[in-house]
Amino acid sequence: MENQDLKKIAENYKSDKIEHGYIEIYENYFQELRENNLTILELGVADGKSLLTWSDYFKNSKIVGIDIHKINLEEKNLNKDNIEVHEGSQSDENFISEIIKKYKEFDIIIDDGSHLSKDVKKSFELLFPSLKENGLYIVEDIQTSYNHFFGGNPFDLKYSNSHMNFFKHLTDSINYQEIANPFYTKKKYDSKILNISFYHNIVFLKKGKNDRLSKEVINHSYENMKYKEKTNRSGNTLRYYLKYKILYKSYTLFLFLFNLIKRIILLRF
Ligand SMILES: C[S@@+](CC[C@H](N)C(=O)[O-])C[C@H]1O[C@@H](n2cnc3c(N)ncnc32)[C@H](O)[C@@H]1O
Repeated sequence: MENQDLKKIAENYKSDKIEHGYIEIYENYFQELRENNLTILELGVADGKSLLTWSDYFKNSKIVGIDIHKINLEEKNLNKDNIEVHEGSQSDENFISEIIKKYKEFDIIIDDGSHLSKDVKKSFELLFPSLKENGLYIVEDIQTSYNHFFGGNPFDLKYSNSHMNFFKHLTDSINYQEIANPFYTKKKYDSKILNISFYHNIVFLKKGKNDRLSKEVINHSYENMKYKEKTNRSGNTLRYYLKYKILYKSYTLFLFLFNLIKRIILLRF
């Protein structure tokens, strides 16, 4: 029998990922992985419609679901060879560490659980180390970031602690080598993310080694890069020393201190 496309399978199980508009996006990412032998984790099982969809689509893969509530496998027709379900919370460190101990690594992780900002961020922190290189981490329904009843904040979009802002800030980790702040210290996810793509209410993140060197700065310093470049080309080092090591550096220092004070006053750390 010919492989059905993802939408057909999802329609078959009446998955709400269709009405959310996610299925076409998923298929763009998943079609090249379809025949692979993957381990896929989904946080949030409910009626099992998505687990059944993945189970049919990824015939050679293992589909793992976790849910805070007990899931009756027989009642939901989840008794399939390639589906395994565990009861526990996505933000419970002990439970997630047991899951990681059992499965070691995941190729794809989908967060369709509580959609609370604190849980989404905590699960990402706990599970990111177990995501394989080139693996995908997907978070559904990120609109809850804009809703205070889910721990989001619709009143301070730019600086709230929502999970949307968490993922927005991770985009800086993709370009961390370009940050022209000589006092910059490497952050937890710097060099570990290849791509983050935002769609309506859903975000896709691809893990992977990413420590390409910058062409504009050396060790986060533009003035050091320019000084090196200019003095390599010409012997006039005193002129370039004054320009890049004194003048430009003073300007960098001034901006550093100005922003530090601003952040302290505004309590932004
Ligand atoms: C939107 S439903 C999941 C739907 C399913 N993924 C699908 O597409 O068919 C959300 C599920 O997350 C579960 N849930 C809520 N809080 C959770 C938590 N902290 N940890 C794990 N699961 C949780 C709920 O019990 C519910 O079954």
